[in-house]
Amino acid sequence: MRHRYLLQAVLVGGLSVHVGASAAAPVIDVYKSEYCGCCHEWVKHLEANGFKVKAQNVVNPSDYRENFGIPNDLGSCHTGYVNGYALEGHVPAAEIKRLLAERPKAKGLAVPAMPLGSPGMEGPRKDPYDVLLVQPNGAHTVYKHYN
Ligand code: CU
Ligand code: CU
Repeated sequence: MRHRYLLQAVLVGGLSVHVGASAAAPVIDVYKSEYCGCCHEWVKHLEANGFKVKAQNVVNPSDYRENFGIPNDLGSCHTGYVNGYALEGHVPAAEIKRLLAERPKAKGLAVPAMPLGSPGMEGPRKDPYDVLLVQPNGAHTVYKHYN
């Protein structure tokens, strides 16, 4: 009899350790328009690269961009937010991972407009584009160039 209680305690203990140890993948909040197909493709790209995504359809995605401090001239079709950083437009997962590892002082990353060939914008051709690091004062530098 005593034996059974002991076994139960071990099982319960083991379970709670397992739950507590499960690693939390960063969650990316995405604010997009209901009618945006390429936004959905970008979300799929993030998920395929290991991110959890909470996407919300909103009336004005640009309101979120403004709130997160991304200048209007760097605007695209959707705005994401992860661990204190804004992600404007079709930002590749590789640069998001680099951003989260380096944790620079910045508003976030932006890929202005919607360049063909960026993640979620796959099409007949690949245009060159830049992933921009947006600094706290709104200025930006090139974080990564894609050909
Ligand atoms: Cu788009
Ligand atoms: Cu979009």
